[in-house]
Amino acid sequence: MKFFIDTANLDQIREAQELGVLDGVTTNPSLMAKEGITGKDNIFKHYKKICEIVDGDVSAEVIATDLEGIIREGEELAELHEQIIVKVPMIKEGIKAIKYFSDKGIKTNCTLVFSPGQALLAAKAGATYVSPFIGRLDDISTDGLNLISEIRLIYDNYGFETEILAASVRHTMHVIDCAKIGADVMTGPLSSITGLLNHPLTDIGLEKFLADHNKGN
Ligand code: E4P
Repeated sequence: MKFFIDTANLDQIREAQELGVLDGVTTNPSLMAKEGITGKDNIFKHYKKICEIVDGDVSAEVIATDLEGIIREGEELAELHEQIIVKVPMIKEGIKAIKYFSDKGIKTNCTLVFSPGQALLAAKAGATYVSPFIGRLDDISTDGLNLISEIRLIYDNYGFETEILAASVRHTMHVIDCAKIGADVMTGPLSSITGLLNHPLTDIGLEKFLADHNKGN
């Protein structure tokens, strides 16, 4: 399972990279705005900085919603750095753009996916990644993990190569459950990755080992 971090915060990306388990980064317009990154030039520069820190795929989202605009923006983003994955919303024009990018060898991440049918369309169009948002489904009392299971079944039935990128992951149990189901990738906050480190018995055990060692010295 690949681990992506879902942020535009460079310090957090550095921290995850230094842990040695990071496979990529996802961003979105809200995450960019949260870091105060505005204007096309600054946003593009920020994507380049992220690519220099992380050794893996970096999803950069288009803002346009018309086919021509999505293609123009996506091609500009893909030119920025070889690690850029063009993130395209799950809309009709987005599906057409994903097919266009896929034919041209430009990698894509189909975002804002909330149903198995949408995921099927994304795979048919040739998306590199599909991003089902599990946390946002949970937020409206709908089982986000069930969507991951359904997409896994459909993709395995037909051998689709599109990778299931469980997005809107909020905590460590989302990560563990997605791993059990067989999501190819998860993207979440730094805490959803570092939280996997924690167990009280590890802390108690280490404290005891060190205390026993010190008794003999
Ligand atoms: C996906 O790529 C999105 O950036 C993200 O996972 C959304 O997560 P949220 O629902 O926590 O905003």
